[in-house]
Amino acid sequence: MRAGGSDPIREAVRLLAERRNAVALTGAGISVESGIPSFRGAQGMWAKYDPMEYATLHAFMRSPRKVWAMLSEMVSVCGGAAPNAAHKGLAALEETGVVRAVITQNVDGLHQAAGSRRVIEYHGNLDVLICVSCWKRYPTRERWTPGGVPLCDCGEILKPNVVLFGEPIPWLAQEQAEEEARTCGVLLVIGTSAQVSPACDIPRIAKESGAAVVEINPEPTSLTASVTDIQLQGNASALIARLIELLLDPAV
Ligand code: APR
Repeated sequence: MRAGGSDPIREAVRLLAERRNAVALTGAGISVESGIPSFRGAQGMWAKYDPMEYATLHAFMRSPRKVWAMLSEMVSVCGGAAPNAAHKGLAALEETGVVRAVITQNVDGLHQAAGSRRVIEYHGNLDVLICVSCWKRYPTRERWTPGGVPLCDCGEILKPNVVLFGEPIPWLAQEQAEEEARTCGVLLVIGTSAQVSPACDIPRIAKESGAAVVEINPEPTSLTASVTDIQLQGNASALIARLIELLLDPAV
């Protein structure tokens, strides 16, 4: 089902209002308007840091101090960021029963900061550090200092509780995300290039299970032509605000 007619956003609103069991899958693009760079694209993190050198588990185990140079930038930027209208809009849609869960690839914690309660952190989060030797955990704020390399009491270097390339997705997050995708009526895919597996499989799982896939992104992605039913082209904060405005308009 492709968005017929001239107004895809009204079609999206109709589906959200009718089905009222939407799930959101978010990527770095939803946090761009909070000042957190995305990963891909000219200004992305991977234009500055080669992910094969800085974002794989192998790289971390081989050169943890080098990888911490990139991680420190992420911790600093995310620590100073606030939720934007898109995060707050999704929290409002959860409050009104339109959206029942957010599956996020982001590790910035901004969905929870905006008030979303059911957030599945598919790639972990930056709030916790784990010892790669004794597995002891610490709140990041207790052990990380800007530009520093956090150490465990046992002397080993600590790793953030994020999924680096080459690491498995936390099994509970993967199970929960796939169950949400299989049972939702609408999947809002917001701010992701859909290039990283297995997160990029979630829209296909939802589609094959009968959900309508609504994509919010200024650019088309690998999903747009084959999986997306309704493409809303633009920035997440403006489009989510417009969705909420129309959902509140009884004339829709
Ligand atoms: N609103 C909505 N989408 C936006 C905005 C915005 N204001 N600005 C940019 N985008 C879109 C871009 O067009 C792009 O499609 O957000 C997407 C960001 O893509 P990526 O940088 O690839 O981020 P993401 O898809 O989340 O990456 C997935 O890859 O590197 C790994 O683990 C990392 O979780 C990350 C995963």
